[in-house]
Amino acid sequence: MPEHVVVTGAGVIGLSCAILLQEAGYYVTIVARDFPGPFETMDPIAQINYTSPWGGAHNRWVPPHAASPPSVHREHAFSLVTFSHMQRLHSAHPHTAGITFLKGIEYIESPGPEYKAITASNPLPVPNFRLLPPSAFPDDKVTWACEYDTWCVNPMVYCSFLLRRFVHRGGRLLKRTLRSPAEAFSLSLPSPSPQQQEKVTISAVVNASGTGLVPDSSMTVTRGQTCLVAEGCDATVTRQNADGSWTFCVPRGFEGGTVIGGTKELGNWAVEPSVAVREQLLESFVRTYPKILEGSKTGGLTVLRDIVGRRPTRVGGPRVESEVLPGGAGFVMHAYGLGGRGYELSWGVAEEVVRKVKGYLNEQERSRL
Ligand SMILES: Cc1cc2nc3c(=O)[nH]c(=O)nc-3n(C[C@H](O)[C@H](O)[C@H](O)COP(=O)(O)OP(=O)(O)OC[C@H]3O[C@@H](n4cnc5c(N)ncnc54)[C@H](O)[C@@H]3O)c2cc1C
Ligand SMILES: *[C@@H]1O[C@H](CO)[C@@H](O)[C@H](O)[C@H]1NC(C)=O
Ligand SMILES: *[C@@H]1O[C@H](CO)[C@@H](O)[C@H](O)[C@H]1NC(C)=O
Repeated sequence: MPEHVVVTGAGVIGLSCAILLQEAGYYVTIVARDFPGPFETMDPIAQINYTSPWGGAHNRWVPPHAASPPSVHREHAFSLVTFSHMQRLHSAHPHTAGITFLKGIEYIESPGPEYKAITASNPLPVPNFRLLPPSAFPDDKVTWACEYDTWCVNPMVYCSFLLRRFVHRGGRLLKRTLRSPAEAFSLSLPSPSPQQQEKVTISAVVNASGTGLVPDSSMTVTRGQTCLVAEGCDATVTRQNADGSWTFCVPRGFEGGTVIGGTKELGNWAVEPSVAVREQLLESFVRTYPKILEGSKTGGLTVLRDIVGRRPTRVGGPRVESEVLPGGAGFVMHAYGLGGRGYELSWGVAEEVVRKVKGYLNEQERSRL
């Protein structure tokens, strides 16, 4: 009988890990407090700690540079892996997966060394990368700009697609709030084949709980306030302002409107959105990319709702590593703390999780022989 792996968490990370573990031949059960559902029914207060609905979500390349910390290089590799998975999923399921391929445009007021190192003769090696000439800058505060091919997802359409795919292929779900890692190993799960009544032994647990379930002192949140508008947009546009603030849009597609953002507030746990911040975000975006108003019937943006989310942020970068619990309680593969990049890095993280779980379980198997 194949080994059983429990994935704790049904955000984009848990779902991606569950699908690849299933493809690797394991029986997989996802245990989570929150599952994907229509975005329109998500509770902005009760589900604020479930980050996946509140993301944009687009892929924005973060260029690695000689001076960047190792986590940036690792994350860039994860984002390249994710890009190719998104291409495959999109071409096989263009109308149902919730993925849109489109142009990404970036405007930067004061570029750091990682951007200055990118030139026409040393382009960023990503699809259809092109530096933009000053004539294409929105104003004279912008000093560097580029475009490339990228993808966006409508988060809950995409996550629901992953969940459906997982269940359709025999994956199991359990809606439960866990209090400790040990609890994940002692769950009583139904046997995958109803004919066999033997008790299921859980061989490994994947910790994809976003913030990590119980306090990890390196974990905090980065609050993001954005605004969902009804208008579409032909590109995902990101502007990095000299004062450290961000102006961006992420078209969600699939009648999901466009997310206009957004704030990045480290350690801010405030739940309520601010109307003043919303007005400022919309105004800054329209000034940067007036083309978004081309499809507007009123000449302005049509606000659908404000969004507040908590990016699960970890000092030193995401935790994607294995741990053998003390006293032989079990093998845990951690995959949390993805910050503002959970979607971008999802398939890269999931491939790493499968490699580590396989490595451990194969080793266990060999030592039994
Ligand atoms: C405003 C905003 C914009 C963003 N934009 C982007 C973007 O453009 N691109 C991008 O890649 N990312 C973006 N992100 C980040 C992205 O949304 C997150 O990185 C990602 O959603 C994290 O996914 P996750 O699966 O790790 O966690 P989550 O989505 O938080 O999922 C955690 C899961 O664990 C479960 N769980 C937690 N604790 C327990 C428990 N005790 N018992 C049982 N279950 C538990 C939850 O119920 C849930 O199922 C954005 C985030 C915000 C807030
Ligand atoms: C979200 O998480 C924080 C920190 O763990 C906790 O204090 C808060 O009660 C949680 N909110 C909800 C609605 O569960
Ligand atoms: C996930 O990691 C966090 C941080 O180390 C830990 O507190 C939590 O118990 C872990 N969850 C599981 C299921 O191992």
